[in-house]
Amino acid sequence: MNIFAVPTKPYLDQKFGTSGLRKKTADFQQENYLENAVQSIFDCLTGFEGKTLIIGSDGRYYSAHAVQVIIKMAIANQFGHIIIGQEGILSTPAVSHLIQKRQAFGALILTASHNPAGKEGDFGIKYNISTGAPAPANLGDAFSDRCSKIDRLWMIQSPDVDLSYQHEETLGSTLIEVIDPVSDYAQYMQEIFDFEAIKTLFKNGFKMTFNAMNAVTGPYAKYIFEELLGAESGTVINGTPLPDFGGLHPEPNLVYAKDLVDLAYSENAPDLCAASDGDGDRYMILGKSFFVTPADSLAVLAEYIEKIPFYKGKFYGAARSMPTADALDAVCHKLKKECYQTPTGWKFFGSLLEDKKISLCGEESFGAGSFHVMEKDGLWAILFWLNILAITQKTPQKIVTELWKKYGRVYAKTYSYHTNDTEAVTHLLDSLSSRIPGLIDLSFDDYSVLKASIFNYTDPVSNEQTTNQGIIIDLSKGARIFVRASGTSSSGATLKVYLSQKSTDIQSDPKDLLQPLEKTAQDLLQIQKYLGDKVEITET
Ligand code: G1P
Ligand code: ZN
Repeated sequence: MNIFAVPTKPYLDQKFGTSGLRKKTADFQQENYLENAVQSIFDCLTGFEGKTLIIGSDGRYYSAHAVQVIIKMAIANQFGHIIIGQEGILSTPAVSHLIQKRQAFGALILTASHNPAGKEGDFGIKYNISTGAPAPANLGDAFSDRCSKIDRLWMIQSPDVDLSYQHEETLGSTLIEVIDPVSDYAQYMQEIFDFEAIKTLFKNGFKMTFNAMNAVTGPYAKYIFEELLGAESGTVINGTPLPDFGGLHPEPNLVYAKDLVDLAYSENAPDLCAASDGDGDRYMILGKSFFVTPADSLAVLAEYIEKIPFYKGKFYGAARSMPTADALDAVCHKLKKECYQTPTGWKFFGSLLEDKKISLCGEESFGAGSFHVMEKDGLWAILFWLNILAITQKTPQKIVTELWKKYGRVYAKTYSYHTNDTEAVTHLLDSLSSRIPGLIDLSFDDYSVLKASIFNYTDPVSNEQTTNQGIIIDLSKGARIFVRASGTSSSGATLKVYLSQKSTDIQSDPKDLLQPLEKTAQDLLQIQKYLGDKVEITET
C-alpha cells in the first residue's frame, strides 16, 4: 500500500473551540478543509502507530464522505486498528464508552451536535482522548495552531470501505472493524440501571414517547426502550438517522422540540416524554403537562443517585457549569458533598470525574453525565429517570415538586442574542467588565446589585487557570445574572444571558416571576445600546 504526502495550504479560520471544530457544511466541503483538520490533529498526537482509532458520526450530511477520508488518512498515518460503527454511526457517549472498553488511543467524532445538518447546515469534527473525554483545551489550541501552518497530508489511495455490514477487513497493515454501534452501549446501560424494574414499569402500562429527532439515537432508543425494556412499539419517534435530520433542529429544548412539548401538554400525554440531540449527548424530560428544567433534573439525579446500585457508596460530589441554575447545590449541601462550578464546556468536568471528586455533572443546555463515560449522555439520563420512576412509582411532576418543597425552587431562563456583528458582543462584555466596580450597590426598580465579578476558574485537580469565562452578577432577593459569549456559534456572535432566582414560592409561572429580572438585565447590560435592533433572540 502506497502512502502519499499530499501538499496542502492552511485555512485561517480553523479554530478548535469547546466542542471541536464546528463550521458550515460548505466550509468543510472546500478542498482539503476536512483533510487539513484531520492531519493537524494527527500531527499533534504522538505514539499512536499501531494503536486503535475509533471513528463515529451522528449521520449528518457529508459524514459518509468524511468517514471514508478519515479511514484512509488514519491508515496513511499508521494507526493499526480502526473501529467504526455500521454506516459510520456512533453516538458521542457510545464512542466515549468504546474508547474505554476497547482501550483505544482516541476517537474522531463527526458531529455539530444539536446544530441543523445538510448542505445549508453545520458540520464538525472533534477528537476524544484515551480516557474517552473530549480533547482538553491545550490540545485543542495545539490543533488550531497546527491547522494554521499545515502544508502536507498523509493519504493512501484505495476504494471506499463498505460500511453497510458488520465485518473485519485489512487494508495495508491496518485492521478495520465495522461494528454494531448499539450493542456495547446497550450492554453497559444494563450494567448501570435496573432493567428488570424498568421492564416491570412498562409492563404495568407506563407510556413514554422518545423523540430521536431523526438523529443518531434512533437505533439505540429502539433497541433499548422497545426491545430490551418492552416499551410498546411506536415509543420511539423520528427514529431513523437522516442526513438532514429530516429538516429538524435536533436540539432538545422547549423551542426546537415543540411537537414533543405539545404532546406532553395534551390530553393524550404519555407518562414521560423525552428527546435527545444530534449526537446523543443531550436530553430533555417532560412529565404530563410538566417540563423538567435541566437544573432541576440534575438536582433530582443527585437526590436519587445512591438508589441506583451502580452508584451506591459512590456519590463523591457533583458539579454544574456556571450558567446552570443552582438547584444542585442545595442537594449537595444537604448530602454534605462538594458542589463545583465550572466554566462552560464538558471538558471542565473531566479532571473532576477522573479524580473522583465528582460522580455527577451537568449543564444548563440539557446535558448531564457521570463517571460512567467521560461525555454527557442523553439516553443514560433518560434511563436514570426511568429507573427513579420505577423505584418510586411517582410521576416526574411529583418527584420535582417534592424537591422544590424540600430545598426551594430555582426559576431559570436563558436568553440568547444572536448578531452578525461579532464585535458588538465583545464590546458589551468589555464595557460591562470595566464597569464592575461601579455596579456594586446599584439599584434598579426591582433589584439591587450585591456582588459582581469576572468568572475565572482554577481546575481543582490540575490547578490550570481558565480566565474570563463570563461575568457573575449577584442581586438581591436570591437573583443572579450570568453573562458570557457563546463559544459554539458557527457565524456571527451570540450573547448568552442566564437569569435565575431562588424562591420558596414554588407555584409561579417562570415567565412571570422572571420578568422583572429580565428587565433589570436589559438595563444593567445595556443590551439595546450595544446590540441594537438586528438581533435574533431565543429564549430557553
Ligand atoms: C453550548 C452550551 C454549553 C455546551 C456547549 C457544547 O455552548 O451552552 O452548555 O457545553 O454548547 O455542547 P455555548 O454556545 O453556550 O458556548
Ligand atoms: Zn450534542
